[in-house]
Amino acid sequence: EIRDALEATGLIDPAAIDLAEPKANVPADLALPCFKGAKQRGVAPPQLAQELAAALSFDADSLVGGVQPAGPFLNFTLNRSAFARQLLAEIQRLGDRYGSDDTGAGKTVVVEYSSPNIAKRMHVGHIRSTIIGQAINNLLRFQGYTTIADNHLGDYGTQFGTMIAAMERFGRPEGEGEAVLAAIEERYQRYNQLKGARAEDDDAHDTEALDDEARAWSLRLEQGDPRARELWQWMVDTTLRSNQRSYDRLGVRFDTQHGESFYAGMLPSVIARAEELPEAEREPGGALVIKGLRDANGKELPNFLLQRSDGATLYITRDVATIIYRETTYHPARIVYVVGHEQELHFRQTFALARALGYAQDIELTHVSFGRVFTADG
Ligand code: ARG
Repeated sequence: EIRDALEATGLIDPAAIDLAEPKANVPADLALPCFKGAKQRGVAPPQLAQELAAALSFDADSLVGGVQPAGPFLNFTLNRSAFARQLLAEIQRLGDRYGSDDTGAGKTVVVEYSSPNIAKRMHVGHIRSTIIGQAINNLLRFQGYTTIADNHLGDYGTQFGTMIAAMERFGRPEGEGEAVLAAIEERYQRYNQLKGARAEDDDAHDTEALDDEARAWSLRLEQGDPRARELWQWMVDTTLRSNQRSYDRLGVRFDTQHGESFYAGMLPSVIARAEELPEAEREPGGALVIKGLRDANGKELPNFLLQRSDGATLYITRDVATIIYRETTYHPARIVYVVGHEQELHFRQTFALARALGYAQDIELTHVSFGRVFTADG
């Protein structure tokens, strides 16, 4: 409005109209510095300010409430009641959509948050990722992005072999909810304690037997043994049902809940591709190590394993597979990981490796990290 009115006076070149926010102590909402326009007209800036003020007029319902020359500046004040009327009308018209925009129209963002581990109770620490992640998801959607909210569950790893071995030995707990999760945790700990106790007794043979038993279950699980799968699936379902109660209370909603195990089938091809990297090295024992990889800033990353000598993959291997899956499935402009600051290095390594393998070339990968919560006793 101000610009149009200034142009209509014919006293100032449109190119010389550069409205600025006045200093905090100036009783105005917008200001026009008149130096440039005055120079073009061959007059002193205060004179142009006076001339413009005299030539301008605004209607009573205009958003511009007043015009005041102040030295070389022309100051404008907002018509607060007109502004309030327009604003309230807009809020009424847009309702819950008020304040939204379409910055993200046509773009997809994968937002990964919460991501607890299976067969463990959620604790106060999980609330950070869960709440921050849902808030980011809500904000992005409000900006017009299509978001995929993904709960990247920790449902993979040798600990599941131990849990199954423990339940075979001590029995599968009955019931529902957190009490059952606590009972699984308890059996898992009892199994490890038994190992510890036997090691102290110098009964190396028995400790090994317990280790072998856990490892055997882990292997059976990976190979799809029905009994192992059944117990694992039961742990997954029980945990999901238990966690869902917290999510419902918090208004947290996911579009998918793919756990780490979902990507298992992709791991051999990730390994095969990674082996071609100049940074990849097969150790004599068979482990695959990535050495001297650099991050996006050219900083050299600490070496890391991609495959153990026994053929097992690692957390990072599955995270790289996850990026590949998301890229081909959702074609996102961005992937946001809402995970604690302890995993900062892990994500720098994950992102660098995915890019080195030729993935996520046009995807912005962001680790939204946050600090830890400590109780009073540390
Ligand atoms: N389950 C993991 C944990 O509890 C968090 C997963 C974070 N996300 C990821 N893509 N690695 O530590």
